[in-house]
Amino acid sequence: MSDAKKTVTLTDNQTGKTWEFPVLSGTTGPDVIDIRRLYAETGMFTYDPGYTSTGSCESSITFIDGDKGILRHRGYDIQDLAEHSDFMEVAYLLLYGDLPNPPQKAKFESDITNHTMLHEQIHSFYSGFRRDSHPMAVMVGVVGALSSFYHDSLDINDPHHRMVASYRMIAKVPTIAAWAYKYSMGQPFVYPRNALSYAENFLHMMFAVVTEDYHVNPVLARAVDRILILHADHEQNASTSTVRLAGSSAANPFACIASGIASLWGPAHGGANEAVLKMLNEIGTKDRIPEFIKRAKDKDDPFRLMGFGHRVYKNHDPRATVMQKTCHEVLDELGISNEPLLDLAMEMERIALEDAYFIDKKLFPNVDFYSGIIFKALNIPVSMFTVLFAVARTVGWVAQWNEMIEDPTQKIGRPRQLYVGGLKKDYVPLHKRTSGSAKAQQG
Ligand code: CMC
Repeated sequence: MSDAKKTVTLTDNQTGKTWEFPVLSGTTGPDVIDIRRLYAETGMFTYDPGYTSTGSCESSITFIDGDKGILRHRGYDIQDLAEHSDFMEVAYLLLYGDLPNPPQKAKFESDITNHTMLHEQIHSFYSGFRRDSHPMAVMVGVVGALSSFYHDSLDINDPHHRMVASYRMIAKVPTIAAWAYKYSMGQPFVYPRNALSYAENFLHMMFAVVTEDYHVNPVLARAVDRILILHADHEQNASTSTVRLAGSSAANPFACIASGIASLWGPAHGGANEAVLKMLNEIGTKDRIPEFIKRAKDKDDPFRLMGFGHRVYKNHDPRATVMQKTCHEVLDELGISNEPLLDLAMEMERIALEDAYFIDKKLFPNVDFYSGIIFKALNIPVSMFTVLFAVARTVGWVAQWNEMIEDPTQKIGRPRQLYVGGLKKDYVPLHKRTSGSAKAQQG
């Protein structure tokens, strides 16, 4: 950050008192007002539900310009990475700050590959879950359980320990994810294979069965790899902020990543890809689109067009553009000339983008709008869609967690509040209380 030469002045209109706060500039993007001294000097907090105007940290990992539809990791445009790179390279980029040279890449891939196996005892965690558990519930549980395997040996202030923990997470999450699926199917777990790439290995562990050989289709593996790249990191979103907040207390990183998975699960975040496919199935045919668009615009109806809108992107989501292209490529490669859900999605996008409501509110398809159609073509079950997002985002979470721990200004995260509850009351013994809680009586 640059030296703070710019300042802003805050004036209390009642007392006329003024305070000056430094304005900090990053390498690009909007300036930020440094309000760290605000409470100490004014006795006031800021109020920003949903953190719509709050920068919570300094970061050099990912840059987003929501108005221009730009997403860059360590300076590289997402379109270039999706087209020319692969997920292992992007993972290295996020973790280490630049693209690897050939020996660095080979070593990184080999190190990740050599951490893909799970401790045998982890098998028994699965049998504690109902077979019909949502796989994201299994992910939260099993990734959290990894903290019990790697706790006493892990010093988060030691950069080498942190990197080993990071490699373990990136390497083991696909195994945990594929086994969640196998468990739901009642099939034996398939162990990772070191000869396969990251994406191939995931597909192998998902779809191979012990009774026959399974050959990974390279087209499908490439599609999964690209989807992983598109989801790898996204600045200070809800799940990443959850990981950072959990980690700010110096908690075990495996437990922190489990908290990120929990946050990702919601339909407003990573759960949207599952919700999009369910929505498209519910709509069914093009003639019913106007009915759903009408519902999405109705203030009294909680229904939202899933896969539309974004807190940051107000022009287009660059990931969605690549995703739509990938969707066509995958369907072409698989010889699927007619995918009714893709036709439906494209028609929905066309209608929404011509509608004043979506234009005025700057609502565009986001990364989740087309990804489900690709997953469906790859035979990935709907309940696994958000799990794939979690597999991809794990590297972003660990990169952000490492950056946070290394930041010398890092403190435990502790937002404040605007208290609107009751004032001091005298305690009344139970036998003397005539009225109870109005809220409980309503319920
Ligand atoms: N359908 C209909 N109306 C919408 C939608 C939508 N998908 N998204 C936002 N709006 C309206 C919303 O009702 C509000 O209207 P008003 O100003 O009249 O109250 C306005 O647009 C602004 O919405 P908001 O909820 O204040 O905006 P936000 O920045 O808090 O929410 C969002 C962003 C992504 C949660 C939201 O757009 C949404 O719920 N979209 C659907 C779920 C979805 O696709 N999520 C995936 C996000 S991308 C992947 C990821 O980050 O995980």
